[in-house]
Amino acid sequence: MSVLIHFIGHSCFFIENESAGILIDPFISQNPKAVSKINPSHIKDIVLTHGHSDHLGDAIPLSVKIGCKITATFELADFCANQGAKVNAVNLGGSIKLNGASVKLLPAFHSSSVMGGKYSGMPAAALISVGDLKIYHAGDTCLHSEMKVVKEVYKPDVAILPIGSLYTMDPDDAVVAADWLGAATVIPMHYNTFSGIEVDVLDFKDKVEKLGKRCLILNPGESTQM
Ligand code: NI
Ligand code: MN
Repeated sequence: MSVLIHFIGHSCFFIENESAGILIDPFISQNPKAVSKINPSHIKDIVLTHGHSDHLGDAIPLSVKIGCKITATFELADFCANQGAKVNAVNLGGSIKLNGASVKLLPAFHSSSVMGGKYSGMPAAALISVGDLKIYHAGDTCLHSEMKVVKEVYKPDVAILPIGSLYTMDPDDAVVAADWLGAATVIPMHYNTFSGIEVDVLDFKDKVEKLGKRCLILNPGESTQM
């Protein structure tokens, strides 16, 4: 059973197969570079890595409209629930069943706030398991050694990594992250969306390929089948 990974833009991905439809960090309507070719009726779950507006995005209105649950760390889930969304409140290390998949939240080293600075819990990475495929979405983070634990314990097949620097890892740190995570396929995100996070993604791809890994650069609106 193959899995489709759609890149909508920035850190927003949609992962689907016959039974799962997981939208991660849906920064869509406020991102002029976002391109969504997904069928909204396929959205069954939303997963948030943290509360910053370029990740929370359209999560709450989508949950209200579609009725799907938002999975997020406790404080962020609480915030979303207070705005009328349906939620799964979890915390780091916790995993929860989604429709046709599961997600475990793991550490990310970053910050997390909503509405002008209100604390919204620990930021997270999301380990999504769909069928036999394990996809690690790093969220917003610096390079951190927990990634070695992720490789040892969870053995992800795909690593989706921020490379834009300024708010997250830069490309060179993301190359180290790709090595530490051990995933055979690496997909870059969180770059070239707005000023301050412009990077040379082809240089990143070269360096990842020197590790013997596949680096898949997806433009907004593009997807890949795993
Ligand atoms: Ni952030
Ligand atoms: Mn961000």
